[in-house]
Amino acid sequence: MNSSAHSSLLTDLDTAQLPAHVAIIMDGNGRWAKKRLFNRIKGHEKGVETVRNIVQACREIGISILTLYAFSTENWQRSKVEVAALMTLLKKFLKSEQKEMIYNNIRLNTIGQIKRLPEGVRQTLHNTIALTKDNNGMLLNLALSYGGRAEIVRAVKKIAIKVREGKIDPDSITTELISDHLYTKGMPDPDLLIRTSGEMRISNFLLWQIAYAEIFVTDTLWPDFGKDEFLHILKDYQRRERRFGKV
Ligand code: IPE
Ligand code: IPE
Ligand code: MG
Repeated sequence: MNSSAHSSLLTDLDTAQLPAHVAIIMDGNGRWAKKRLFNRIKGHEKGVETVRNIVQACREIGISILTLYAFSTENWQRSKVEVAALMTLLKKFLKSEQKEMIYNNIRLNTIGQIKRLPEGVRQTLHNTIALTKDNNGMLLNLALSYGGRAEIVRAVKKIAIKVREGKIDPDSITTELISDHLYTKGMPDPDLLIRTSGEMRISNFLLWQIAYAEIFVTDTLWPDFGKDEFLHILKDYQRRERRFGKV
C-alpha cells in the first residue's frame, strides 16, 4: 500500500470512537518460521519487529492501553531452548526499546507471574518500568507468564484473606471488587481483542476482562502482521454495534 492510501486509512478513522484498550494474542511465530524451514526462534525474532511496529502504530493512532500476550503460564511447557530464547529476546527488546519508550512517552507495565521470570529479565523489567513510570502517552502492558485462571485464583486468595481479617464483608463482593484484585486493577477492560494466526480460541488470556470485548481473528501470522491490517481492524471495530446486552 502506498503512503497516501495509508494516511487515508488513518484519516478514515473516527478518533472519537477509538478503542481505549486493545489486547492482542500474538500467535504464529512458529508457523511463520516453519513455512520458511527456519528454526522457531527465527519466528520469534521476526515477531519482535512486529511488536515494535504495532506499539508505534498504537501510540501514533492514540490508543491509550495496549496489552500484548507475550508468554503464557502454559508456555513454560515448551522446550528449555525455546523458553530461554524467548527470555533472551524479551530482555533484548526491553533494552533496545527503553529510549524509544521514554521518547514516545510510553509507560511500561507487566501483568502475570513476574517472580517466575529469570533474574536478568526481572531486573531489566524493573528498570524499564522505573524509567517510564511518569509517562502518560500510552500504557504498554506486557502479559508475561500470564494466565487468566491463575489471575482469578490470585484475586480470590487476596479477597479471601481480607474476608478472614474482617476487612471485607462477603456481601460486599461485587464485580468491581473482583476487578480491583486483578493485575489490570484501575484499567478499563479491553474494547478490542485481536488474535493473529487464525486460531478461534482465547488460550487463557484475560478471561474476566474480555466479557464484552469485540473479537477479531486474522489468519495473518504475527510476523506478517502490520500497521495497515491493524488500521483495517480498527475500521471494522468502528462499524460494529456494541450492545452490552441491551437492544
Ligand atoms: C506466539 O507464537 C508466541 C508465543 C506463544 C510465545 P507461537 O510460538 O505460538 O507460534 P505457533 O503457534 O507455533 O505458530
Ligand atoms: C497464546 O498462544 C499465548 C501467547 C500468544 C503468548 P499459544 O500458541 O501458546 O496458544 P495455543 O497453544 O495455540 O492455545
Ligand atoms: Mg501458538
